[in-house]
Amino acid sequence: MKTKKRILFVASEAAPYIATGGLAEVIGSLSKALAKTGKYDVRVMLPLYMDIKQDLRDKFRFIGNTTVPVAWRNQYCGVFEYISEGVTYYFLDNEYYFKRKGCYGHFDDGERFAFFCRGVLEIFPLVNFFPQIIHCHDWQSALTAIYLKTIYSSQNGYSDIKTVFTIHNIEYQGKFSMDNLQWLFGIDGYHQGLVEYNGCINLMKGAIECCDKFTTVSPGYAQEIKDPYYAHGLDGIVRRNEHKLCGILNGIDTEYYNPATDKALFANYSAEDLTPKGVCKEQLQRMLNLQVRPDTPIVAMITRLADHKGLDLVTAVIDEALDNDMQFVILGTGEGYYEHYFAELASRHQQQVAAIIAFNPELSRQIYSGADIFLMPSKSEPCGLAQMISSVYGTVALVRETGGLRDSIVPYGAGGNGFTFRNYNAHDMLYVLKEALALYRDRTKWTALVHKAMTTDFTWKTSAVRYSELYNELLA
Ligand code: GLC
Repeated sequence: MKTKKRILFVASEAAPYIATGGLAEVIGSLSKALAKTGKYDVRVMLPLYMDIKQDLRDKFRFIGNTTVPVAWRNQYCGVFEYISEGVTYYFLDNEYYFKRKGCYGHFDDGERFAFFCRGVLEIFPLVNFFPQIIHCHDWQSALTAIYLKTIYSSQNGYSDIKTVFTIHNIEYQGKFSMDNLQWLFGIDGYHQGLVEYNGCINLMKGAIECCDKFTTVSPGYAQEIKDPYYAHGLDGIVRRNEHKLCGILNGIDTEYYNPATDKALFANYSAEDLTPKGVCKEQLQRMLNLQVRPDTPIVAMITRLADHKGLDLVTAVIDEALDNDMQFVILGTGEGYYEHYFAELASRHQQQVAAIIAFNPELSRQIYSGADIFLMPSKSEPCGLAQMISSVYGTVALVRETGGLRDSIVPYGAGGNGFTFRNYNAHDMLYVLKEALALYRDRTKWTALVHKAMTTDFTWKTSAVRYSELYNELLA
């Protein structure tokens, strides 16, 4: 039997243990997909947050403990293990850092993730696992790649380890004041140049410099982040390291997101039998106090209410759009301005608009299944998962042509699986929305489009092969 290659994922969240966004879904589903190939021993390291549900925690097994240097401090680190669907998870425990509500947004996030990233490297002997590849995700795990290069690479067992760093969103870079270099992060002044950028410590920049390969979550975004419009200041660093960069489109867990088996839905259906989707729609309209009208298309958004999600385009033309025969449903939380805007919109258009200011995974799947058109007009979108989820639930995506949206949704006019518009312009969006509403009236064509959306391959199959190729290249 061939021995499996040892891959370690380092991330700040992973579904189903702890999730605040798309990152968690990718860590949960990609690790599983790689393990399923039979070629890899895949392990994942995460902080043991207080918010991890007790029923899951009860299943974790205590392995042991050690101490972890965080600059001049020495901190306790307990290690718990849990094996699920072929993937071994390790949770790093320190109550001072992680026994708090929420994963991020604490005054000492720099120190918390410095502990975590250093802890990852320190516990290899304890868990008796030395990976061949460490795959870090986003700035919270960037220091693992940086510490490996600056502190550990000359040590026994560490010298041959390769690193991959994946950018899920270049907007969040992990920036800290330069004074923190030695006393907080424990980085020698000699290595200052690796992490310094524009007068501060930039951990994402440091990881790009230190890793062997870096990736983003779609080929389109890999191109875009070389451009100042998309790169949030890092375009120069990306271009200089371009030889190490590649873009691999995310997939989704199609066993979990499956309208034929999803227990949250009012009725189950498949591409072959769409009739129960009508039940999902009717029940959704009832539940949200919308007029129960089977022939009125529901346009839905499920999104963080943040600027780069294209909400300014929506607010600019939504009243005009609502002059058409359509209903609008939005689910999400975020910036106060948008929370108020959409709540107020719903009160002005009763029975035509529903705004649910919440984060609710079950409701989101009821919306994915009950709606007809899914709107995602992002200004930038590294990959985006919602357009893929909505598609497999037969709710046709209407997206702006950016990043992973352009890589996953092909315009109807070109024989594709959804609708797209190119320029970041509210009336371009509205124009295409009206096209979609018109096509909805043609039942034969619409049903064919829904079928096409539902049968598009959004699994990890192709992308897992791409990651395999990348790992093989590094290990050759
Ligand atoms: C981030 C990105 C999103 C991507 C997700 C998973 O949340 O903003 O576009 O789908 O990470 O990679």
